[in-house]
Amino acid sequence: MEIKKTTKLDAKENLIFLITDEKELSTSSFTKEELSFIKKELKNEQKQIEINRLSHTLFVILCEKENDYKTAEKIRISASILLNYLNTKKIASATLIGATEKTLPFIEGLALANYQFLKYYSDKKINSFKTISYFSEKPININEIETIVKATNYARDLVNEPLSFLTAVQLSKEIQKLGKEAGFKVEVFNKSKIEALKMGGLLAVNKGSIDPPTFSVMEWKPAKCKNKKPIILVGKGVVYDTGGLSLKPTPNSMDFMKCDMGGAAAVIGALYSIAKNKLPYHVIGLVPATDNRPGGNAYVPGDVITMHNKKTVEVLNTDAEGRLLLADALSYAQKYKPEIVIDIATLTGAAAAAIGHYGIVAMGNTDEKVMKKLKDAGNNVYERIVEFPFWDEYNEQLKSSIADITNLGNGMGGSITAGKFLENFTNYPYIHLDIAGPAYVKKPINYLTYGGTGVGVRLFYDFVKNY
Ligand code: BES
Ligand code: ZN
Ligand code: ZN
Repeated sequence: MEIKKTTKLDAKENLIFLITDEKELSTSSFTKEELSFIKKELKNEQKQIEINRLSHTLFVILCEKENDYKTAEKIRISASILLNYLNTKKIASATLIGATEKTLPFIEGLALANYQFLKYYSDKKINSFKTISYFSEKPININEIETIVKATNYARDLVNEPLSFLTAVQLSKEIQKLGKEAGFKVEVFNKSKIEALKMGGLLAVNKGSIDPPTFSVMEWKPAKCKNKKPIILVGKGVVYDTGGLSLKPTPNSMDFMKCDMGGAAAVIGALYSIAKNKLPYHVIGLVPATDNRPGGNAYVPGDVITMHNKKTVEVLNTDAEGRLLLADALSYAQKYKPEIVIDIATLTGAAAAAIGHYGIVAMGNTDEKVMKKLKDAGNNVYERIVEFPFWDEYNEQLKSSIADITNLGNGMGGSITAGKFLENFTNYPYIHLDIAGPAYVKKPINYLTYGGTGVGVRLFYDFVKNY
């Protein structure tokens, strides 16, 4: 969707008036009859009012006065409702007028809701709506929101791409392409480099695969950055999760497992938006990637593997694979002496079972202020964060009778034992985000379109921007 500023209004342009009070309705824009109609509708508690002038249509959208995050979300949602209507009416463009503070969330909601993934249809039914213009005296940073939406939609594309296209190698190619476009540096480690680095977790998960693994390093380091030590984002890049030999039951839980690189997509989208908008922070993104399959040479329950940091892990379930490759990335991150590392992963069904798609499960050992900042970012972009305990007692579940730790807890607090497993591979302030719930939706929900949601992109952008 194109977003542009306009200073002249065409008489036949469709107009969208964002108002917080009927007093904002100017008599120059509407006839007397129209005004009394709108006022009557407002009294009837209508929030989206339409006036059809044959050559064009006027829409009046009533927004709440407050400027808090909950109101911003309601505006994104009303934008998505209007967008669906504009598409059913085959409308191609409209111009926004009024309530300036509401303009950005409104445009964001419109643009996110207009996302489509049509690549594999022969008959592509493309949405009619193409261009949103806004008419405003006050300057609005439209490029920023445009980039954020683009980055989120890139992340959605990556999640929606099936394994038949998006192998680990292809994922690393997409990262290189986006690095060129946004201006961040990319280095991709191939299988022999991963072997040389002794990333035993990533290599074990990859053993049953017919495709090689990759490990991608993204870096955004502008000349004048505000942080001395980097912020590192790590994304789980399991391009498909069958569970391996601990096979998932099909059809229930395997159908959507192309979404298991949702964490990687979030990190890639975050680096894209951070670099493209030139945020003055040193940020590094790490993406370990492979598919997880049963195969002649697949790793088996009972195997003991040696990780990148030399710790040994007894594999008791090959479906708990995400933590194995993330662990290698987390220990690799140590060499940067990072200020903070945040990983993001579709890690456990337990996180999804606990809170559904409504938010992100977080846990960590940073100072409370950092977690608070992340939660604030979560509210701002309405990817809300709920903090789970990160008590050391959960480590008891990871004791192995043969190796340093096992990759499987006893099921009590499953998303926390997964986080605790990962903490074993860190030596810096650390936050773990589990997005198994919100990464993928099986029906459209407001401005979240069917499939990949791009969760995490807007969160990280907002977090880094306000760091
Ligand atoms: N990729 C799954 C988690 C998942 C579940 C993602 C639902 C998206 C939606 C992960 O690799 C997994 O299989 N986890 C297991 C761990 C268990 C074996 C300890 C799970 O949650 O059942
Ligand atoms: Zn799994
Ligand atoms: Zn997985």
